[in-house]
Amino acid sequence: MGRVRVGVMFGGRSGEHEVSLASAASVLQAMDRSRFEPIPIGIAKDGRWLVGGDPLCALADNVKGALSPGDVTSPVKHGLVSRAEKSESADQALARVETAESFPAGLRRELDVVLIMLHGPYGEDGTVQGLLELAGIPYVGAGVLASAVGMDKAVMKAVFRAAGLPVVEHLVILSREWESAPDAVAGQVARELGYPCFVKPSNLGSSVGVTKVKSPEALPAAMAEAARHGRKLLVERAVQGREIEVSVLGNDAPLASLPGEILYDREWYDYEAKYAEGHTTLQIPAPLAPEQTRRFQQLAVAAFRAIDCRGMARVDFFLEGERILVNEINTIPGFTATSAYPKLWEASGLAYPELITRLIELALEVKGGTP
Ligand SMILES: Nc1ncnc2c1ncn2[C@@H]1O[C@H](COP(=O)(O)OP(=O)(O)O)[C@@H](O)[C@H]1O
Ligand SMILES: [Mg+2]
Repeated sequence: MGRVRVGVMFGGRSGEHEVSLASAASVLQAMDRSRFEPIPIGIAKDGRWLVGGDPLCALADNVKGALSPGDVTSPVKHGLVSRAEKSESADQALARVETAESFPAGLRRELDVVLIMLHGPYGEDGTVQGLLELAGIPYVGAGVLASAVGMDKAVMKAVFRAAGLPVVEHLVILSREWESAPDAVAGQVARELGYPCFVKPSNLGSSVGVTKVKSPEALPAAMAEAARHGRKLLVERAVQGREIEVSVLGNDAPLASLPGEILYDREWYDYEAKYAEGHTTLQIPAPLAPEQTRRFQQLAVAAFRAIDCRGMARVDFFLEGERILVNEINTIPGFTATSAYPKLWEASGLAYPELITRLIELALEVKGGTP
């Protein structure tokens, strides 16, 4: 039997484009070449598809050309892209990169399965998953429904609550409601949540558009910032606590990894803390009592099941005193060799290359199943 042809999709139209390049570079490097033949598939920021040649290199060049020194995230993005470039690139480095407006004709026949390494909207939200369903190509990770629910923090929290999972007190506000009645919204925030609170777009990741708001005067700017990223906003009570993450792997019998604790030297876990060098350490296992560890693992699997997830997900928690709150589920978590999701599995006995193999096997297992 020949090798399984694995399309690896990366880049994408979201603000997490650079993070995605770094994830994909690690995956392409670590994938077991004796069993799998990786086929890199790049998505540019404008949505064009890049196949053939070395799309990773092409996208890295694009990003570097577009970074402006005025952008505060520019140094971080530069670092992520350098990590992508450092990886051994695809075998056909000199071949031409073909571009297409959408799913390139002919690509279907070249793929046995797709590993979607896109983060955020148009990648993690069910849209690409739907396209692959229509094309009849199996893919790694959550299906259409779980992807969409996992990408929308407001719906995700409603589903969690309905499943009996503990979530932080929050309000869902449409930007239109805020614009038409800011005083009423501000009053509700003060009464029901108080300060500090967190304002965030419902539909993003990587802490983009998220603000910690310490006083009522700072609320309008935070709402405006979140509204730049989407029409639905979340305002949450600020939790005073530790941040714990658990990786989940499997289809209908999902397993939880050891919990890890995110430690950072910034006020909260913002974009810089996540992706610039040296701000964050992941402590594995998280220093927790054994029964607390079990509780996190149970809740992680329950959150996975609540959204009908499959394949993989990272479930993020707060530990506030003795109280555990589910913060969110990420259906395509950061996936570089040093990202939390693979690191937690490594500490639980599953090394990075084997993790990739397992995920591809899980995707092929659901072949023919319903989304
Ligand atoms: N309600 C909250 N209380 C305390 N910290 C929060 C709260 N919401 C978000 N944060 C901080 O902001 C970070 C990013 O928020 P999160 O909801 O996880 O969005 P993202 O999808 O961008 O990761 C969290 O890891 C945490 O540090
Ligand atoms: Mg998060």
